[in-house]
Amino acid sequence: MIKRLFILVGIPVLVGLTLSSFEPLMAQSDEAMMVAQEERKQRFKASSASMKALYREYLPAEDYQAIKAEATVLVKWAIDMPEAFPFGSDSINDEAKPEIWTDFEGFKSAAKAFETASLDLQKAAEQNDISLVKTALGNVGASCKACHQKYRKK
Ligand code: HEC
Repeated sequence: MIKRLFILVGIPVLVGLTLSSFEPLMAQSDEAMMVAQEERKQRFKASSASMKALYREYLPAEDYQAIKAEATVLVKWAIDMPEAFPFGSDSINDEAKPEIWTDFEGFKSAAKAFETASLDLQKAAEQNDISLVKTALGNVGASCKACHQKYRKK
């Protein structure tokens, strides 16, 4: 009788405990994904602001110090970018295409192309050479676009 009671009461309680102890874990990982999405969006917005400042202010002013500083920030972002896309951090409210994770090597090389272009911009600024800066900046913009065409929902 006691044994039956355990089966009747104990098992549902055990199952219930197990399920409820998983709940915070699930919630946490959902939250981690949302944090990842939010953080990368902020950094993308910042990089967009960098590009505007570069084209509208620093390039016309030939402000090589400022160009170099922005380029350094872009290089850092390019290096961090793959980690800003943890597996499972896509959602319907997000512009990240599933191809990022089915072709993560391709995504990483698109980020690498952005890194290389940003490094070239940094070097061009160090040489105080406006025509090199112009070309390098064009290449940075092209690397943004190339990745968006493949990996960002429109
Ligand atoms: C290696 C790929 C890659 C590169 C390089 C890249 N992007 Fe993106 N970008 C993305 C993806 C993917 C998203 C969608 C992210 C999301 O919704 O979570 C995005 C989103 C954005 C957004 C929208 C952010 C928001 O508010 O939702 C902006 C703005 C942006 N990128 C600008 C840029 C600029 C400017 C550059 C170059 C300086 C750049 N990106 C380079 C892949 C890239």
